[in-house]
Amino acid sequence: MYLSKEEEKILQGESGEAKRLAMKILCALGDFFHAEKLIKVESAHVSGVSYKTGGDALIEVLENFVKSEPKTEVVSTLNPSGMDRLKWKEMSIKDDFAAKQNRIIKMYQSIGILDLCSCIPYELGNVAKIGDHISFSESSAVTFMNSFFGTHTNRESGLSALASAILGKTPEYGLHLPENRIPEVVVEIEAKLTNPTDYGLVGYSIGKNFSSKIPLLQKVSSIDIQQAKQMSAAMAASGSIALFYINEYTGGKFEEKKLEKIVMDQRNLKELKEDFAPTSQPDIVMIGCPHASISTIKRISELLVSPISNRTKLWIFTSRPIRLVAESMGYVQRIERMGAKIFCDTCPVVCPIPEFDLSLTDSLKAAHYLPTMSKIESTAGSLEDCLKIAMGEKV
Ligand code: F3S
Repeated sequence: MYLSKEEEKILQGESGEAKRLAMKILCALGDFFHAEKLIKVESAHVSGVSYKTGGDALIEVLENFVKSEPKTEVVSTLNPSGMDRLKWKEMSIKDDFAAKQNRIIKMYQSIGILDLCSCIPYELGNVAKIGDHISFSESSAVTFMNSFFGTHTNRESGLSALASAILGKTPEYGLHLPENRIPEVVVEIEAKLTNPTDYGLVGYSIGKNFSSKIPLLQKVSSIDIQQAKQMSAAMAASGSIALFYINEYTGGKFEEKKLEKIVMDQRNLKELKEDFAPTSQPDIVMIGCPHASISTIKRISELLVSPISNRTKLWIFTSRPIRLVAESMGYVQRIERMGAKIFCDTCPVVCPIPEFDLSLTDSLKAAHYLPTMSKIESTAGSLEDCLKIAMGEKV
């Protein structure tokens, strides 16, 4: 990969050890994918924050980075950590875990990475415009940014996004190049999608069937931000889809005649719903994967009309800034009065969740990862159904 004189000097260590390490990471990545050069990124989003997933090795890596006191070159944000930084005891987190988690976050902070600890940085100020290059390492946010903001990012690892945050650059390959952003398959959505979980189900099926291909969805009557979040997260979880198009909105310019085409109809959607539907009473209901938006928290506060059943817990995950707004509007108080909990800084998958047998969630991404990451059997349903069951309605 071609390096400018200045980049060569960074690689020689003239700008400090952290920048040298960051350059080494980006060069290795660029060489592997035959990138010709590094390009400038407008922002970065860094995953690899939870002590549950990173362990002591993550602490060691970060200690190496922070020794030479690097600072971020571009606006950079942090993905969810392994616990709510204020209410970790309510999550049954152990003291040692909490201390190590706080240490990890402090090291990221010292580099200048904003400690939003959220997977929806695009709702919290880390946004860019169409065509901008960014370096994001949260898969659901990658798909969302590529597909809905028209920004260009590959599915980065936590380490490569951290290197990009420090250098403000990324190797030019993959989805940074227009020739790699062309649809490869057409999916006609004939099913009537009525809520974000329906979009998640369809996204989950597309990810499973098409792995990392770029789908062009047709006949989607409309899509809002909650639906888009669920669809992006599900596609990126069951497959590794990092970009999709929606005709009329983002895919209008493509010629799709020669592409393989499949149809998803009402029968397919019904089967998908049945595959994930709970057959017995869950002992925990989890909402907020990706993190809940303020509109979702408002909706929950309206739908929770009676206390949570004593057989089921209801945990909601969001970012701290969104919780603060929800608090000032009285939504948090209303929700908590009904016996639910709202946690920040963490998520259903990357926190060491206490032992539960069966979970119910409105997120296909959470339903996909909970059995392997947390050893909890998972089921999925719409937000409305999740809340009804949390309030005691029989499955
Ligand atoms: Fe976000 Fe965690 Fe889901 S990072 S997308 S809430 S698995």
